Amino acid sequence: MLKFSIDKQKCTKCGFCANDCLAGIINMNTAYPAIAAKQEVSCFKCQHCLAICPTGAISILGKNPENSQPLKENLPDPDRIETLIKGRRSVRQYRDENLAPELIQRLLDVAWHAPTGRNARRVMFSVINDKEAMARFREEAMQGLMRVVRENRLPAGMKFVAELVSLWEEHRVDTVFRGAPHLIVASAPKVGATPEADCLIALSYFELFAQSLGVGTVWGGIAKLTFNDLVPELRKTLGIPDKHLIGYAMAFGKPAVIYHRTVEQEKASIVYVVK
Ligand SMILES: Cc1cc2nc3c(=O)[nH]c(=O)nc-3n(C[C@H](O)[C@H](O)[C@H](O)COP(=O)(O)O)c2cc1C
Repeated sequence: MLKFSIDKQKCTKCGFCANDCLAGIINMNTAYPAIAAKQEVSCFKCQHCLAICPTGAISILGKNPENSQPLKENLPDPDRIETLIKGRRSVRQYRDENLAPELIQRLLDVAWHAPTGRNARRVMFSVINDKEAMARFREEAMQGLMRVVRENRLPAGMKFVAELVSLWEEHRVDTVFRGAPHLIVASAPKVGATPEADCLIALSYFELFAQSLGVGTVWGGIAKLTFNDLVPELRKTLGIPDKHLIGYAMAFGKPAVIYHRTVEQEKASIVYVVK
């Protein structure tokens, strides 16, 4: 049931909802916009009808437009967004402190708004929101990597893993999670339309919003390699179902460093196609 309903006092029958409906199932040949029961199954649940209605007359999926945030005059200044994107840095030094649970929840709720192919919305976040739990997980991961090294199970070209394991063993230097107090791993069912892209986009949104709130992040390439290939038993600790593909991992927490300016990248590689 879509619970598509129209506030007849507010609806002006402008047709914007029908015109923007991806599935083309909103019918304007009725007194007010309507979706036939047999067409409900085609709905993408994108809520564009609710978002585009100028008067807030549409509710769908039990969502009341009054609970949505109005966009007019509430959007950030593009120059500041540009600075945020250019000023984002990979943080590899963290304070040994937990972030407030409400802050982590907010980051996850916002990242959850990232787009997904066919609006599947099947990304799952495995989150370590406590530094003691992270310390235990780090130890488990490092022990797993040590076993792989000791038992000569490192695949060709992965000698660097032996080096990072000895860095941990000898100096307690963590090059997998960079000493961060928290971790997020995004996974999604392999059978979906775009599971890997969905996970990467969600983590990109997470990262940028995090950095806007002073939370540092770093993409975990070695962490992903660890869960995916080298120590797959960690998937269980992370609660990742067998049917899921691991999109990526990201460590995060309060930075122990401050970046004062953006960096200057080389010119973008662009091909303008004119024909
Ligand atoms: C997919 C991906 C995987 C990465 N994996 C790691 C990693 O395992 N460890 C790490 O310290 N940084 C990792 N990084 C961060 C990059 O090294 C970093 O983006 C690059 O050095 C540029 O620095 P910046 O992010 O501060 O601009 C990764 C970045 C991406 C996009």
